[in-house]
Amino acid sequence: MPNVNDVSTPAVLIDVDVLDRNITRMAERARAAGVALRPHGKTHKLLEVGRRQLAAGARGLSLAKTSEAEVFAAAGFEDIFVAFPVVGADKGRRLLALAERIRLAVGVDSVDGARTLGDVFAAAGRRLDVRLKIDSGLHRVGVLPEQAVGVARAIAELPGIALTGVFTHAGHAYGESEPPGVAAVAQHEGRTMVAVADALRHAGLEIRDVSVGSTPTARQAMTVAGVTECRPGNYVYHDASQVSIGTCAIEDCAMTVIATVVSAPAADRAVLDCGSKTLSSDALRPRPGGHGWILQRSSRLESLSEEHGVVRVQPGESFRVGERVRVLPNHACVVSNLHDRVVLVRGDRVEGEWTVAARGRVR
Ligand SMILES: Cc1ncc(COP(=O)(O)O)c(C=O)c1O
Repeated sequence: MPNVNDVSTPAVLIDVDVLDRNITRMAERARAAGVALRPHGKTHKLLEVGRRQLAAGARGLSLAKTSEAEVFAAAGFEDIFVAFPVVGADKGRRLLALAERIRLAVGVDSVDGARTLGDVFAAAGRRLDVRLKIDSGLHRVGVLPEQAVGVARAIAELPGIALTGVFTHAGHAYGESEPPGVAAVAQHEGRTMVAVADALRHAGLEIRDVSVGSTPTARQAMTVAGVTECRPGNYVYHDASQVSIGTCAIEDCAMTVIATVVSAPAADRAVLDCGSKTLSSDALRPRPGGHGWILQRSSRLESLSEEHGVVRVQPGESFRVGERVRVLPNHACVVSNLHDRVVLVRGDRVEGEWTVAARGRVR
């Protein structure tokens, strides 16, 4: 069995034991809370991980892109929610083809956007299941709770559309640095969604799915009575940002990048062969703090260019040219999108590779 030190660097390593533990834990939490788990596959983009999530009890998958849904549907996944406000007749036609083969729902947050999809489905004599995105505080996409009834009514009346639920993503939890702050966001996320769903039902709309989800808030938001579904994604791998905001410990991180020290030009500077092409430039959350943690060292990656990762070497530490280190990325999901393959490890033992089937599927 090859050793991790035989792997050509830089390479993304996935510790399968940690991955499986993370998948099992979240599935157990959802079971205990009595909600459906619909993990977000954007984090891993791997058919093998999606299958493990379903085997552990997930109802189906969430994905962000129509093309990601196409990859998973082609591989036999039968229940997919595209958790993004999809807009455009071109996407509508592809969604129609998907809806003929699998159970499909799509996010919407405007009447105009929903109409572009509804027209395609109506022309084919079909209806597309959609869920209305609610802005529970991230202020990215989604309608504000107080606008939800008006927008939902108008969307529900569109030809070719069936409004079946509401969903949100409390990504602003990534700005919190202490567990009580994250817990408050999670409670607010769950309660807001239940209140919106109740208001929509009161207005005569049949709302079945009340979907929340982010890795930091999942644990608490899924326990709010009335929530029916949770969509965490990052939890399969975790990363330095999750550790920083207190979601997990370093031991719960399944993804690391193995890199080689390619230069040590000064006592306080060493350079790794992993730059932004490998790690992405995503900042550490909740506060910027370098570009990845080097395991078992206190020195951090201070800056990145495309192929170079520059380490500010702390007093008392040193890096030798040719030496290998493992880096915990700031944000695991974007790392998946940068690599064709991930290497499977248990500790230092290499067990194989998986192809990142949905990487680069941005349309
Ligand atoms: C709409 C939506 N749902 C769910 C998730 C999963 O959240 P997380 O990566 O925090 O687990 C994301 C992540 O960006 C998202 O955008």
